[in-house]
Amino acid sequence: MRKIQMVDLKSQYQRLKTEIDANIQEVLDHTSFIKGPAVHAFEKELADYLGVKHVIGCANGTDALQIAMMALDLPPGSEVITPSFSYAALVEVIYLLKLKPVYIEVEPDTFLMDPEKLEALITENTSCIAPVHLYGQCANMEAINAIAKRHKIRVIEDTAQAIGATYTMKNGDIHSAGTMSDIGTTSFFPSKNLGCFGDGGAVMTNNDELARIMRMVANHGQSKKYVHQIIGLNSRLDSIQAAVLRVKLKNLKDFENARNRVAYHYDKNLEGLPLQVPNRVSNSTHVFHQYTISLSHIEDRNRLKEFLAGQDIPSMIYYPIALHKQEAYSQNSTLNTTDDLCDRVLSLPISTEMDETQLEFITNTIKNYFNK
Ligand SMILES: Cc1ncc(COP(=O)(O)O)c(C=O)c1O
Repeated sequence: MRKIQMVDLKSQYQRLKTEIDANIQEVLDHTSFIKGPAVHAFEKELADYLGVKHVIGCANGTDALQIAMMALDLPPGSEVITPSFSYAALVEVIYLLKLKPVYIEVEPDTFLMDPEKLEALITENTSCIAPVHLYGQCANMEAINAIAKRHKIRVIEDTAQAIGATYTMKNGDIHSAGTMSDIGTTSFFPSKNLGCFGDGGAVMTNNDELARIMRMVANHGQSKKYVHQIIGLNSRLDSIQAAVLRVKLKNLKDFENARNRVAYHYDKNLEGLPLQVPNRVSNSTHVFHQYTISLSHIEDRNRLKEFLAGQDIPSMIYYPIALHKQEAYSQNSTLNTTDDLCDRVLSLPISTEMDETQLEFITNTIKNYFNK
């Protein structure tokens, strides 16, 4: 049996090697490493894939969030409502831009921003709501957008973990994750569903003016070479990463299907055990960036994690400490669901290259653990 890893990037590269190597070679031959044709082609291809007007590449998913917030010109000191049960990037940018995070609870069964808690957190100082499409499915954007519209508040969707997921509105309209609000942001970190071979990210929008500003922000605030109209960043997606991403994008639907096959294997084989398998949101597809189970108590979770490690099966806790409990970002928030989930969640290996033997081994090991 091949060694089980949380994400098997090597096997995926080997499978796509001929095409990826050829695309990289083309960039080397062209030597247009920054803002080259591969970047423009990729931006257009991703925009078409997602059904959004503008995609602008940048250096990573954290910068994407910063570019988005800078473009929206959120007033310093204003409040951004965002989940505490998430990765640190969003709140890091909030602090860097001298904004204030207001942490919101997630729904206990989906791990996504709980829109029912939103209205109570809105003040006259709220400038933005920033949901995260955690683990691979969309937050309840219809409800979030309705509240944001009522209060004239901006919305940024962090879709670093859910690129390619789609969400169906009540009227039947289908939208891609990251395209339902003012701005969507994503990361192409290697382990992401659409990952490059280094750092990369993008912002996306249907708003022409925001797209124009974000292009400037990501490139030193320049409207044209050596004309600096606004304060910006040096945050560009490079051509070699774009060359890799063009190949991966062509395979993104297959990646999603492969991840779903893994997820269904887990669902079927873990049924009846004393753990909770991931709940699927009815109006979002799931691209299973993570397959995250929850146990009853922290001791149960930690014991299972240790047992799996003893059998050479890796697992991860996303996230062991909520953002409101982190020294750097702490706020005096009471978030019982979030704290509880940090104690109980466990993400199992999931990748596009997992085979039946590996999956059987993982689920049999978990079954043996509970039946011993
Ligand atoms: C939800 C979320 N947002 C933002 C980021 C930041 O992306 P990057 O590592 O490319 O800066 C990540 C990366 O893990 C993420 O998971």
